[in-house]
Amino acid sequence: MTAAPGRGRFITFEGGEGAGKSTQIRLLADYLNACGLKVTATREPGGTPRAERLREILLSGKIAPLGPLAEATLFAAARIDHVDQLIAPTLAQGGWVLSDRFADSTRAYQGARGGVAQRDIDLLERAATGATTPDLTLILDLPPETGLARAAARRGVHEDVDRFEAEEIDFHHALRQAFLDIAARDPARCCVIDATLPPQTVAQTIRSVIDARLLNAAGQVAAQ
Ligand code: TMP
Repeated sequence: MTAAPGRGRFITFEGGEGAGKSTQIRLLADYLNACGLKVTATREPGGTPRAERLREILLSGKIAPLGPLAEATLFAAARIDHVDQLIAPTLAQGGWVLSDRFADSTRAYQGARGGVAQRDIDLLERAATGATTPDLTLILDLPPETGLARAAARRGVHEDVDRFEAEEIDFHHALRQAFLDIAARDPARCCVIDATLPPQTVAQTIRSVIDARLLNAAGQVAAQ
């Protein structure tokens, strides 16, 4: 929470599969728009035409045989374009950015679960994000069984399961723990949200967090 006056705010949403991130981003964008703020909703991997092309490759599983470090590097490549072309310029113009996943996903999926060394993850993160770090990260937490069932229902019968959703249940349990560990290490930035509750209840909790940490925090928005 060291945002300079005039700069927008950068909020990231993290969590396992089917946690309801996109619904919550939509609801928060509506709320912030109603507060008179300029909001851009985006996602990772993706968010720009080039990064969306990398998303297709990453989620197809074509890179998986090269191993988690190669995947982490490609996620970072997509992030470089996303930060340079969309996130940093939007924040500089005073806009608020809501991103469905960001660097913590690389930390959890490729680092904690994939076994990529911490120093390599740190290096890739610094190179890709520079000074563009989140002001607030909301970690939507729920048991993986619930999340995967939701993701399957959303996908329906016609779409294939993606590279990461297809992992074993143990992977998803460890992933949940990895996100909780990230939150425990950085409580000033992160907030864990119970995502098992109904969407409107989750949205209300998120609005309270935003009010307390960003909107009503001394001088934060008044300074814009
Ligand atoms: P999603 O848009 O459904 O969350 O799909 C993105 C998938 O990519 C999800 O399974 C998490 C995975 N992912 C990583 O493994 N590393 C990353 O750095 C990011 C951004 C996503």
